[in-house]
Amino acid sequence: MTDTVAAEVVRLNAGYAVKGAIDFAERWGGPVAVLNSAGSSAVVALQGAQVLSFVPKGAREVLWLAPSARLGTGKSVRGGIPVCWPWFADHADPGKPAHGFVRAALWRVLGARSRDDAGHIKLGFDATGIDPALWPFRADVTLDVELAAASLKVTLTTISRGGTAIDLTEALHTYFAIGDISDISISGLENRAYIDQLDLVAKPVQAGSITFDAETDRIYYGTADTVVIGDSRLQRAIHIGKSGSDSTVVWNPWIEKSERLGDMGHQGYRRMVCVETCNAGPDVVTLAPGARHSLVQELSVSSIA
Ligand code: BG6
Repeated sequence: MTDTVAAEVVRLNAGYAVKGAIDFAERWGGPVAVLNSAGSSAVVALQGAQVLSFVPKGAREVLWLAPSARLGTGKSVRGGIPVCWPWFADHADPGKPAHGFVRAALWRVLGARSRDDAGHIKLGFDATGIDPALWPFRADVTLDVELAAASLKVTLTTISRGGTAIDLTEALHTYFAIGDISDISISGLENRAYIDQLDLVAKPVQAGSITFDAETDRIYYGTADTVVIGDSRLQRAIHIGKSGSDSTVVWNPWIEKSERLGDMGHQGYRRMVCVETCNAGPDVVTLAPGARHSLVQELSVSSIA
């Protein structure tokens, strides 16, 4: 552990640890909060307010994380739940980072507590001081991570602080751990229209559940429904409930794109799928001055035969 990270962990434990529910540690080279409840746990990095692990009681890891994951490099970590804000995907200006500017930034702990012996933490990023050339608005953004006995709730809240309306796109860009990409099926998006990011001319509508045999990159819009990843190899279903979200992105980079990304690990694309709780594509949130908006994702797991 570097001296800086060690000192930060000591400071965080002194200020925010909650016996049995929250403590701070060094993992992947950076400071993280470890949340516990009876039998469940979650890990949240201060970098990017990124949840990196969620293990419900009696179950195995729900989130996928790149084998080379390392905090503190100035780059975002691939895996877990990256926060994409205040824009999703590429910006119209190619000089600005894809998926916004908070996912590699350090967030602050605003509060930590336990409810029913489970850890809850609130992290914040103050965007009021952002260079107007990068983003000409004023807002606060917070991320609440609330562990329960069998679920994890993540709430991304934007509070407009300026005098003009803000157009916002955003995502909880969740990477899920799966047994094998050929053995999963995603339901909850049947009959929904989507933008195929690999064929922008097509105007497809989802027929049946989603299965994978090639690169897949879709924005399902106008949908607030719960999505379920059925995983026959791991004999489990991951339930992704949401609110304040009108779009769901489904992404798997497959072979060639994984090679271009460079940090997926050997056959990593087979072990992950992103199902992202978003407001993206045509689903833009417009925040009036002083208004707030929350994007919520709630994860739980059940067994399937
Ligand atoms: C997904 C997009 O949300 O993020 C993909 O739909 C994109 O088009 C992917 O390639 C990139 O994710 P990351 O974590 O590499 O920025």
